[in-house]
Amino acid sequence: MYLDKDICKEGNPILKMKCQEVKLPLKDEDVKCLEQLYEYLIISENEEMTKRYNIRPGVGIAAPQVGVAKRMFAMNCTDFLDEKQTKYSYALINPQIVGYSEQMTYLPDGEGCLSVTRTTEGYVVPRHYVIKFKALAYDFITKKAKYITKILEGYPAIVFQHEYDHLDGILFVDKMVHKDETKAIPLYTVEKEDEEK
Ligand code: NI
Repeated sequence: MYLDKDICKEGNPILKMKCQEVKLPLKDEDVKCLEQLYEYLIISENEEMTKRYNIRPGVGIAAPQVGVAKRMFAMNCTDFLDEKQTKYSYALINPQIVGYSEQMTYLPDGEGCLSVTRTTEGYVVPRHYVIKFKALAYDFITKKAKYITKILEGYPAIVFQHEYDHLDGILFVDKMVHKDETKAIPLYTVEKEDEEK
């Protein structure tokens, strides 16, 4: 499994690279890497495990973050704004954004990244509110990959765009702007008491 020491941090040149398409048919080493990325996210959901292995929780992780400059990432997030608390768990190969809304949004508390250790308080990242993607999705149970096309909206769309940017050598810190400088609409309203904390 990947540990914090395996994750490339800001300043590492691999995080600035445009990653290569994954060649098909899939090689075992690529599947193994993707599986370990996915595994990291699943393990990091468990607080006891994060303490035991001293890892940071994450909702997405891309191959370049573990030193592999290939177009693959895993995401595992719950849409906390959705009544049904829908889960979005994907292990994706050669993802493409094939459509997006003009409407922009941002996480009012800002974004975070396993590769960024500094605080970026007050800074946010404008993202498309809706995206449509195509990708080869790997299923670790059937051990098969198949092409999928999905529309994501709100939080999972933000997570996808953050991870997708990693494949083009872009970190959220490269795109962030001060909260007061964006016309995008916050994804949710931050409670007043929270602001005063
Ligand atoms: Ni990141």
